[in-house]
Amino acid sequence: MTPQNILSLKQVTKNYKQGQNEIEILKGLDLDVVQGQTVAIIGQSGSGKSTLLSLIAGLDTPSSGDVKINEQNINELDEKSLTRFRGANIGIVFQQFHLMSHLTALDNVRLPLDILGQDNAVEKARDALKLVKLDHREDHLPQQMSGGENQRVAIARSFVVNPKLLLADEPSGSLDQETGKVIMDLLFHAVNERQMTMVLVTHNQDLAKRCDHIWELKQGQLHKR
Ligand SMILES: Nc1ncnc2c1ncn2[C@@H]1O[C@H](COP(=O)(O)OP(=O)(O)OP(=O)(O)O)[C@@H](O)[C@H]1O
Ligand SMILES: [Mg+2]
Repeated sequence: MTPQNILSLKQVTKNYKQGQNEIEILKGLDLDVVQGQTVAIIGQSGSGKSTLLSLIAGLDTPSSGDVKINEQNINELDEKSLTRFRGANIGIVFQQFHLMSHLTALDNVRLPLDILGQDNAVEKARDALKLVKLDHREDHLPQQMSGGENQRVAIARSFVVNPKLLLADEPSGSLDQETGKVIMDLLFHAVNERQMTMVLVTHNQDLAKRCDHIWELKQGQLHKR
C-alpha cells in the first residue's frame, strides 16, 4: 500500500492588501506530507510561517491554490462543515496556549471530544493528560498552573481526538528555554506514541532536526533543507 498523503498543498499563494498595494507572502507553495511523518517549517520572522499554518488549519483562506487534508479540499467546505472537519481532523497548538480560563485541565482537554459528541470523553482526556505527564493536575484551572503546565494541557487537547494532522506553531515560544525543552520532549513523545503526522513551525534548528523533513520558508517559497 502506498503511504497516504495527509496534507497536500498545490500552488498555494497568499497576498495581503497593504494600502493600494498587494504584498505576496506565499508565492505558490507545493508540499506533501505522508501519514506518520513529521515536518518542520523554519524561516525568519515575517517569512510567512504562521500564515502558512493558518491556511493549513483552514483558519484563513489562500489567495489561490489548493489545501487538501486527507484528500478533502478544505476551502470547498462551508463554514459549518469546515469547523466540524477541523475539530475531527486537525489538532492545533499555538505559542499562546488559548485554554478556557474557567475550565479545569481535564475539562479543557475533553472539550474537543464533547464538541464532536464522542464517547468516553473523561477516559480519553485522562489518557491524553497522562501522555504529557499531567494527570496529577486534572482539577486545576489554567491560572493555578505554570506556563509549561498550561502548554501541556494545550498539547493534550490538540491530540485528544486522534486528529489526522497535528499543527504546532512555536509551541515552546513563550516558555523559558528549559521548560521549552521539556515541553518539546513531551510533544515528540506523544507524537511518537500515537504515530501522529505533524507540521511544526519553529525558529529552532535543533528542534527542526528532530523532524523527518525540514523546509525553509524564504521569499515566499519552500526550500528543502
Ligand atoms: N492579516 C494580515 N494583514 C496584513 N499582513 C499580514 C497579516 N498577517 C500577516 N501579515 C504579514 O505577513 C508576513 C508573514 O507573517 P507571519 O505571521 O506568517 O510570519 P512568521 O513567519 O510566522 O513570523 P514569526 O516568526 O515572527 O512568527 C508578515 O510580514 C506580516 O506582517
Ligand atoms: Mg509566526
